[in-house]
Amino acid sequence: MEAKDIKKVACVGAGVIGYSWALYYSLKKLSVNVYDLTDEKLELAKKRIHDSLLNLLKNDVIGEDDIKEIESRIHYTTSIEEAVKDVQFITESGPESYDVKQKMADEMEKYTASDTIIASSTSGLLVSEIAKKTKHPERFIGAHPYNPPHLIPLVELTKGDKTTDEVLECAKEFFESIDKEPVVLQKEALGFICNRIQMAVYREVCNLVMKGVCTIEDADKAVTFGPGLRWAIMGPSLVFELGGGKGHIDGLMKHLNSSISLWLHDMADFKDFPEDFPEIARKGVEEALEHRSKEIGNDDASLAEYRDKMLISLLKLHKKL
Ligand SMILES: NC(=O)c1ccc[n+]([C@@H]2O[C@H](COP(=O)([O-])OP(=O)(O)OC[C@H]3O[C@@H](n4cnc5c(N)ncnc54)[C@H](O)[C@@H]3O)[C@@H](O)[C@H]2O)c1
Repeated sequence: MEAKDIKKVACVGAGVIGYSWALYYSLKKLSVNVYDLTDEKLELAKKRIHDSLLNLLKNDVIGEDDIKEIESRIHYTTSIEEAVKDVQFITESGPESYDVKQKMADEMEKYTASDTIIASSTSGLLVSEIAKKTKHPERFIGAHPYNPPHLIPLVELTKGDKTTDEVLECAKEFFESIDKEPVVLQKEALGFICNRIQMAVYREVCNLVMKGVCTIEDADKAVTFGPGLRWAIMGPSLVFELGGGKGHIDGLMKHLNSSISLWLHDMADFKDFPEDFPEIARKGVEEALEHRSKEIGNDDASLAEYRDKMLISLLKLHKKL
């Protein structure tokens, strides 16, 4: 199969991640079958899709007339056979457990064509293990999204030990064709790329706070109004390329090496967060929220609304919306 042949997709499991994938596929004009275990689950997915569309409307991403059309491309069913029998691509977003995902793989294989690509949203389980009892493990991949997938372009692609290069390449082309930004892991790695980077940064936030160097609020402020602004435009290596001036990134690394080495030796390398850190982080976040206005978010709901509004503005600047 080629990427251009993918016209109809199925979202199997329609919780927080599955509903958002379904919405994204429909926004990209694909027909989508949405499957979950019960009518109640499907009703919730339908409501979440509608609410997210209203939010996109409020932020001028879509027009009022678009809503009906986008919703009409999504078909809901509690029959797995109906969901997967005539699709070319399946996004599985079931619970994060080998046991459940293996059973789901078995169900999907019963009713779908042998070349339909099956992509798991798994946050960290191995594709090889998810697909180990399947008849066609070569068509299983991992396609890890960032929440919410209908807004965040990144998708991290992973192979299992039996996945073919053709399948991975086809999935990559497919995601590119619908304006996602796929990155391919050359080998399986726990936490993929971004969760490792996020945790490396957060380990140092914890370290600075525990040492009394700064507060949770100031660490957040430092990232938001410093490197975070640049990282929202380009990655850390391109930022350093510019920082190096005529010497480029290699010049910068060499020039600062002795200094960087001093920092690195002083930085955290612990493998487990200190036991009391969750409560310290919670208190720090509460203090930070007290200093914020409603407009930029000072509770969970207003914070999420502000995040989505800013995210949409940034995505428009990136020409991703
Ligand atoms: N929540 C996140 O931020 C996030 C981000 C990236 C990836 N993921 C991954 O996405 C997947 C789904 O996570 P979620 O947060 O949407 O979970 P969720 O609990 O919100 O949704 C899971 C859905 O799967 C359904 N389900 C359960 N058993 C099923 C079965 N046998 N067949 C079909 N559907 C079934 C449930 O009814 C539920 O609607 C997980 O693998 C998770 O690791 C989550």
